[in-house]
Amino acid sequence: MDVEALEQAALAAVAAASSTDAIESVRVEYLGRKSELKLALREVRDRETGMTLNAARERIEAAVGARESELERAELDRRLAEERADVTLPVGGYERGHLHLITQIRREVEDIFLGLGYGVVDGREVESTHYNFDGLNFPPGHPARSPLASLFLDADTLLRTETSPSQVRTMEAQDPPVYIVSLGRVYRRDTPDATHTPVFHQVEGLAVDEGITLADLTGTLDFLFKALFGQERRTEFRTHYFPFTEPSIEAYVSCHVCDGAGCPVCRHSGWIEVGGAGMVDPKLFEFAGYDPERYSGFAFGWGLERIAMLRHEFPDLRELWRNDLRFSGQF
Ligand code: PHE
Repeated sequence: MDVEALEQAALAAVAAASSTDAIESVRVEYLGRKSELKLALREVRDRETGMTLNAARERIEAAVGARESELERAELDRRLAEERADVTLPVGGYERGHLHLITQIRREVEDIFLGLGYGVVDGREVESTHYNFDGLNFPPGHPARSPLASLFLDADTLLRTETSPSQVRTMEAQDPPVYIVSLGRVYRRDTPDATHTPVFHQVEGLAVDEGITLADLTGTLDFLFKALFGQERRTEFRTHYFPFTEPSIEAYVSCHVCDGAGCPVCRHSGWIEVGGAGMVDPKLFEFAGYDPERYSGFAFGWGLERIAMLRHEFPDLRELWRNDLRFSGQF
C-alpha cells in the first residue's frame, strides 16, 4: 500500500470535513477497525513498516483530533450566537390589570366615609322579607314585594332589592351613636337597557345620634358630592317618599356637562338625580329599641353605577359588565 498517498487522502478529508458528523466519518474511514490502515497494521511483519504505518496513523489521529475540536468550538460558538436570549430586552405584550371602575368607586366612597369617622359594615345579598321590607316599614301591598319586581328564592327570602336592610341589621346589633356605610350588590327584576341592569351596586349610609338634623344630612351629602364630582358642584334636595325615612328627599347635583345651564345630559334641567335620602323614620327606632325621643338620624342610598356614569359620561350602563377591555381599560 501507498502509505503516503493514504495519509495525503486522509489529511485532505480531514481538511474538507465541515461538521463534527463529517469528521467522525473521516475517523471511521481512516482510523476505524476496518480502515485500510488498521488492517495493514494487523498484517505488519517488519519493524520498519510498522513504524511508518504507526507514524502515519499518529499524524492522521492528531489531524482528526485537532479538526474535531476546531469544529466543536465553531458549532458551540454558532449555537451560542443563535440561541442567545438577551435577558435585558424589555418584555412586550403584557398589560397591567387594574381594579374595575365600580370597585374603584366603591373603595373611594368607603375612604371618604372612613375619613369622616364612619365604619364600613357588610350586608347580606340573600335577605329575608323581614329585613328587606317589614323592618323598613314597607306596607303589606307595596309593589316592591311583588315577585314581578323582586327576585325571590322562596316566599320569605329574596335577593335584596337595596342596601337599606343593613340599616335594620346595624341598629339591631348596636346602640347609638351609629355612623356606618354599607356597600354592595342589589337585585331587581329589571330588563337590562342603557340605564338598568338587574344587578347593580348601592352605598347605604346611616347616622344615628343625639341631635341629628336634616342639615347634617344635606351637609354630609354636599361634602360627599363635592369629593366625588368636584368642588364646583352644587347640590339640591327635593322632597320625595320612602317608607323608612320621614321626611324623605332626593338629592340632585348640578350637571357636570353644562354646569346647570341645561343640556341633553341633564334633560335641560341643569340637575342630575343622584339618589334617595331622609331622616330615619322613628318607626325603625321602635323596631330597634332605640328611644325616638332621644335619638334622631339620617340615611341615604344610591347607585355606584350612577356615580360612575355621571363622572365618566358613558351612555350605556351595560358597558360596565361586558368586560370589553377597550371600555374598562379607560378607567
Ligand atoms: N333604598 C333607597 C332606594 O333604593 C334609597 C334610600 C336609602 C332612601 C336610604 C332613603 C334612605 O331607592
